[in-house]
Amino acid sequence: MKLLALSGSLRKVSYNTAALEALSALAPDDIEVVIGDISQLPLFNPDLEEAPIAVLESLKSALAEASGLIIASPEYAHGISGPMKNALDWLVSGEEFPYKPIMLINTSPRASHAQEALKEVLTTMSGILVDSAYVSLPLLSSGLDRDGILADTALCKSLTTGLDNFRNEIEVLSRNVLTD
Ligand SMILES: Cc1cc2nc3c(=O)[nH]c(=O)nc-3n(C[C@H](O)[C@H](O)[C@H](O)COP(=O)(O)O)c2cc1C
Repeated sequence: MKLLALSGSLRKVSYNTAALEALSALAPDDIEVVIGDISQLPLFNPDLEEAPIAVLESLKSALAEASGLIIASPEYAHGISGPMKNALDWLVSGEEFPYKPIMLINTSPRASHAQEALKEVLTTMSGILVDSAYVSLPLLSSGLDRDGILADTALCKSLTTGLDNFRNEIEVLSRNVLTD
């Protein structure tokens, strides 16, 4: 099973990116967590939607190939991070996003506004939020990077439980599609 993971932070030492890197390292052999790059997307402009944009085409192909999408994104001024909202706006009109199962990772439990706003956007885009896969990690001010997360048993447990639940729900959803 291939899963696409996107971080909403462009910081080099981002907690959100570190959480996705740790999740990718923890994934069992039969799950590949591919970390995508949204940092090079131009600012969303509907006028540009017909022109080929290489970074957007790569993102769309990675999403099309993935059985599910994992998002870890920070809160800025009570809102969704600009890079993440920009990436989602580029994906709104494509056929890759609708009905894609989505796992959310929140690296700052106090950041509830952005999570709620993100859920609203993702649902509006016809993504399927998998509640049982939601992971909340208290990483803010922890100073932890990927390896620091991997060295923490409780954090690893949260991530692997979320990933297990995500995989199970994806399998249930795909069985339901086959029997419908
Ligand atoms: C300009 C700015 C605004 C922020 N606004 C909020 C906020 O409204 N609520 C919050 O919980 N954290 C806020 N934060 C903290 C970030 O969400 C936090 O630093 C987060 O770890 C950034 O994600 P990253 O580590 O993946 O880069 C803000 C940080 C910055 C730089």
